[in-house]
Amino acid sequence: MKYIENKLSLDGVLFNDIYLKYSTPVYVYSQKAIHNNLESYMEKIDDGDLICFSVKSSNNLEILKTISSKGAGFDVVSSGELRKVIHIGADVNKIVYSGVGKTKEDLIFAVKSKIKSINIESLSELKVLVEIVKEIDIVANIALRFNPETSSETHPYLDTGSSGSKFGIPKNEINECLKIIEKQKNINLKGLAFHIGSDIKDFSYFQKALQVMLEKIKYLNIEEHIEFLDVGGGLAIKYFDNDEVLSIQEFVTKVKALVPEKLNLIFEPGKSIIGNAGYLLAKVLYKKSNILLIDAGMNDHIRVPLYNAKHQILPVKKHIFTDQSFKIAGPVCESADIFDHDFHYELDEGELLVIGSSGAYGFSMSSNYNARLRPPEVMISNEKIKLIRRRETFNDFISEEVGLE
Ligand SMILES: Cc1ncc(COP(=O)(O)O)c(C=O)c1O
Repeated sequence: MKYIENKLSLDGVLFNDIYLKYSTPVYVYSQKAIHNNLESYMEKIDDGDLICFSVKSSNNLEILKTISSKGAGFDVVSSGELRKVIHIGADVNKIVYSGVGKTKEDLIFAVKSKIKSINIESLSELKVLVEIVKEIDIVANIALRFNPETSSETHPYLDTGSSGSKFGIPKNEINECLKIIEKQKNINLKGLAFHIGSDIKDFSYFQKALQVMLEKIKYLNIEEHIEFLDVGGGLAIKYFDNDEVLSIQEFVTKVKALVPEKLNLIFEPGKSIIGNAGYLLAKVLYKKSNILLIDAGMNDHIRVPLYNAKHQILPVKKHIFTDQSFKIAGPVCESADIFDHDFHYELDEGELLVIGSSGAYGFSMSSNYNARLRPPEVMISNEKIKLIRRRETFNDFISEEVGLE
């Protein structure tokens, strides 16, 4: 994103032109940035390692196709996500399925789809799977997702690897899981997995979790039996230019340095692939004292109220930075619907602004709250604007409701 003659642009396309074509609010993605981020992972991994894009961060079919075409696989957490990646023709041998609450139907669908790994998150889930593979006489490839029980410094809602977390198999259930697997001819234990959370800046948290996992592998004496270690996602991104984060290349290099060569690695990045490749373009509707009310709300983009996140927001027409502080608020009837408490550009009604780092957990967490229709998504590819999801219509919105004869 940069200013060309005082007008904000992305990959050679002016945000104002996107507005003229698709109005606001609208999500905008850079295909080039997605490719670059993926490439940064790909160039540091070895044959046998795998990048599985975390579909929960963004599940637009065109984006998934873009990612798949570069050789990456997918990490899914629901049958819906699995269906989406199968729909775009993803290689099933590059799909892993995490998720704490898979239903019996989800598990049957995953087993029948012959994916690379079902990442089991509890002893109870394993027992359900055992019954399924017996019933339908089919082989399931699995990994056990352990909870390393090493907390990390991130927002509590983004921490998934602490003791007591609902994610992953707790220490006291692991031995029992292995005993069950040993007796099952239809269950192949292919690997171990963990995911400690999101937005993690400090590598020492990944290091601690990796050490716990490697010790576990030794202690359980399964080094010779498993093929891979799935290290999850969670690498933080820069929301502002002076944020200090590890580059993707540094991160992968550091992980690889800790893991024995014979263990293949699976990475499940979401935010570090799509976060800084996506933007939310919005318009100022009203000015009320120091509040700028915009036409995008927390239903479109919930990260700020949900995680207390801070996103860079820039005016589409270049303005000077002022001493005056403004709030940027959405139209949703909730006091939490605020995008920024300290914005320093004095915009007029009708002016456009761009909320940065919005590609991950932006559209994918959007809702119809306040009966608001969800925004369209466009992708910039070779300096062209491509519509990849049309704006939702009122008919789309009411189409599932029944009973009003
Ligand atoms: C199991 C799993 N893998 C990968 C990710 C992706 O994390 P991130 O987007 O922070 O890279 C998540 C997100 O929470 C997750 O739950």
